[in-house]
Amino acid sequence: MEQVSVAQRTPVRESEVAPLNLGNCLSIALPKGRLLQPSLDALAEAGLQVPSMDEIDRRLIYTTGDGSMRFILARPADVPAYVEHGAADLGITGKDALLEGDWGVCELVDLGFGRCRLVVAALQGAIAPDGCGSEGAVCKLPLPRSGHTLRVATKFPAIARRHFAPKRDLCVEIIKLNGAVEIAPIAGLSDVIVDIVDTGRTLADNGLVPIEEVAQLSARLIANRASLKLKSTVIHQIASALCDRSRSI
Ligand code: PRP
Repeated sequence: MEQVSVAQRTPVRESEVAPLNLGNCLSIALPKGRLLQPSLDALAEAGLQVPSMDEIDRRLIYTTGDGSMRFILARPADVPAYVEHGAADLGITGKDALLEGDWGVCELVDLGFGRCRLVVAALQGAIAPDGCGSEGAVCKLPLPRSGHTLRVATKFPAIARRHFAPKRDLCVEIIKLNGAVEIAPIAGLSDVIVDIVDTGRTLADNGLVPIEEVAQLSARLIANRASLKLKSTVIHQIASALCDRSRSI
């Protein structure tokens, strides 16, 4: 797929969602929200013509003036679906979205931005005070009384289930929420949460403390498997530029 220009700038078209010759177009799914600006910065530094944040409004698809590139703005958790099913050749999303789903995509590059942690957190006063063995963190869980279940609220049920699976002495109930997870222990919905911590402010402001790390996260470049073969030159060119950039972050 050599027709895609990665260096020449042409204006990003205002609003058309024109039918495209997908054989000559590279489509990239981008994450709405806090990863969007650094994603655009990274792609621009890699030589792609990307819409500026000023150009981005409520529209969810942006096409370059020469029709060679299309950007799809999706929720980070949905980016892998666009890529897996070929609606996008490439995508950028957080590692959390990749860990949560069983996606048939290729993870190409750790982009080095959007670094944060996925943790188990509990209300400060709920933490078991003692008895931490060498594995410490496990024993810090607010262990449920005998016969009771540890309730875990999270946006990431699959990750949480995998995390707690080895703790065979613990009976766990996963409660799926869609956001504002920190409220769950305060409201009595759960004993702990599994959620993302960036600055730590949301946890602290809600009286929660991290007690176990589940995973370290960052933004990743992913590719559709067929696109990787059909558009290998341009995709490897982009991946290589982004890889070089991430090493300098
Ligand atoms: C994420 C995460 C935490 C918060 C952590 O939520 O789920 O709530 O950010 O950030 P901090 O450590 O910098 O405070 P997000 O802002 O994506 O909103 P949501 O809870 O509605 O999903």
